[in-house]
Amino acid sequence: MRIPQHLAIIMDGNGRWAEQRRLPRIAGHRRGVEAVHEIVTVCREIGVGNLTLYAFSSENWGRPDDEVSALMSLLSHYLRGELKTMLDNRIRLNVIGQIDRLPANVAAVLRETIAKTADNSEMTLTLALSYGARDEIVRTVRKLANKVAVGEITPEDIDETMLSAALDTGMLPDPDLLIRTSGEMRISNFLLWQLAYTELIFSDLFWPDFDRKALLDCLKEFSCRQRRFGLTGAQVKPEK
Ligand code: IPE
Ligand code: IPE
Ligand code: MG
Repeated sequence: MRIPQHLAIIMDGNGRWAEQRRLPRIAGHRRGVEAVHEIVTVCREIGVGNLTLYAFSSENWGRPDDEVSALMSLLSHYLRGELKTMLDNRIRLNVIGQIDRLPANVAAVLRETIAKTADNSEMTLTLALSYGARDEIVRTVRKLANKVAVGEITPEDIDETMLSAALDTGMLPDPDLLIRTSGEMRISNFLLWQLAYTELIFSDLFWPDFDRKALLDCLKEFSCRQRRFGLTGAQVKPEK
């Protein structure tokens, strides 16, 4: 089986999972956290070097206040609970998005976890929090424009490599595979630049039901895909 160097996941369907059971949406988010634990474990086991999880979008701030605050407290709970696992398994935590928009206590536990796991090198777990790709691109363009304004670079210096490096994901390779759960077939403002040549797989399972078997099924499908990057089939070497 071919293992992606970078797997990105849009974890969708927590609310509908709960609604189907006549439970409050937050019950679905709680089960969603358990799914995160399982999927992180499997990815670490099989050697996925980079796992990026879309956990909260810039647009999700518009949800009802009680859902937003429940999600924030679940997040800080998750981080505290997972620190030992991250340390034991040499997993480094990374964040993309606007950490500064998160409640101060959540931002603090994030920064603390990032610092404590900074030397881990087996796997990078990136959480996209208060993340939107358009917002990321705007912030990045502004950063580069400032460098031009102060004379650090010229407009001609800006190329794809420089722009990629200046994004929140600057340290990560582009995703090889994107999985979205819950049957929705859209990107919802996730990694718009980085997904240019990513393989896409859509699973009908709601995120709380997405388990080891579901992930391995997706990886099997990914293994059968031929990535051509604009070339002809004959030009690209078969991947192992
Ligand atoms: C994904 O599940 C989690 C977040 C967006 C925070 P949803 O909460 O979007 O669940 P559905 O899509 O409403 O079922
Ligand atoms: C995308 O899911 C964001 C996350 C999974 C965090 P949404 O539920 O917010 O996306 P839409 O609204 O269905 O496009
Ligand atoms: Mg959703």
